[in-house]
Amino acid sequence: MIITTETQVCDIAVEYPTAIPVLERFGIDFCCGGKHTLAEACTQRDVDVVPVLEELERQQRKTGAPEAHWQKAPLKELADYIVSRHHVFTREQIQLIAGLMTKVEARHGADHTVVPQIGKVFAVVSAELAHHFICEETILFPYIGKLGGGQQAALPPMFGSVEQPIARMMADHDQAGAELRELRGLTGNYTPPTAACPTWRALYRALEDLEQDLHQHIHLENNILFPRALAQAKGTA
Ligand SMILES: [Fe+2]
Ligand SMILES: [Fe+2]
Repeated sequence: MIITTETQVCDIAVEYPTAIPVLERFGIDFCCGGKHTLAEACTQRDVDVVPVLEELERQQRKTGAPEAHWQKAPLKELADYIVSRHHVFTREQIQLIAGLMTKVEARHGADHTVVPQIGKVFAVVSAELAHHFICEETILFPYIGKLGGGQQAALPPMFGSVEQPIARMMADHDQAGAELRELRGLTGNYTPPTAACPTWRALYRALEDLEQDLHQHIHLENNILFPRALAQAKGTA
């Protein structure tokens, strides 16, 4: 695939996962907003598309063949990978952040109003993600795994078809994406104040790592797992 300014950002991330760190570096949304072209995404972020394209081409040359593994791997393998790699990481990271947040709020919350604001948004997004992961792990992913294996698969009666839970999960992703943007805004792109203590710095770093991992995680679901599952359900895979 030749990447141009008109290539959809999600296609770049799907075909060249090694391009993801480049997109991240330029702040380009490749998961929830991935349907935009590279040019549109750059305009949205107010960045010049030329250096982005150059950097992507450099990365492409460096890594050689694209990693299209997840486009072909069994759906169960992909769903299991998402849980073992991303759900486990996110749960651990949320625990780590919660501990750091409590300390920073106790020490600095009274003097810095932004700290409790960050704590509030973090509490909301972490509770939502906990619920979201349970839905994926107990209902949607087992169904998708069976579907991909050609087995008889059934969803709970409240869902008419697989489109419904997938649409629900994608709406959750959009919501989490908006909350992550809010956290990025509140923290000034995760830049701690110059006088911030090491715990405060660690908090921002941990939040940024959470954001980065969630972007890759949501990308795998929105752009690969869910479209492949929908195609399988429709018999067009
Ligand atoms: Fe997930
Ligand atoms: Fe998800």
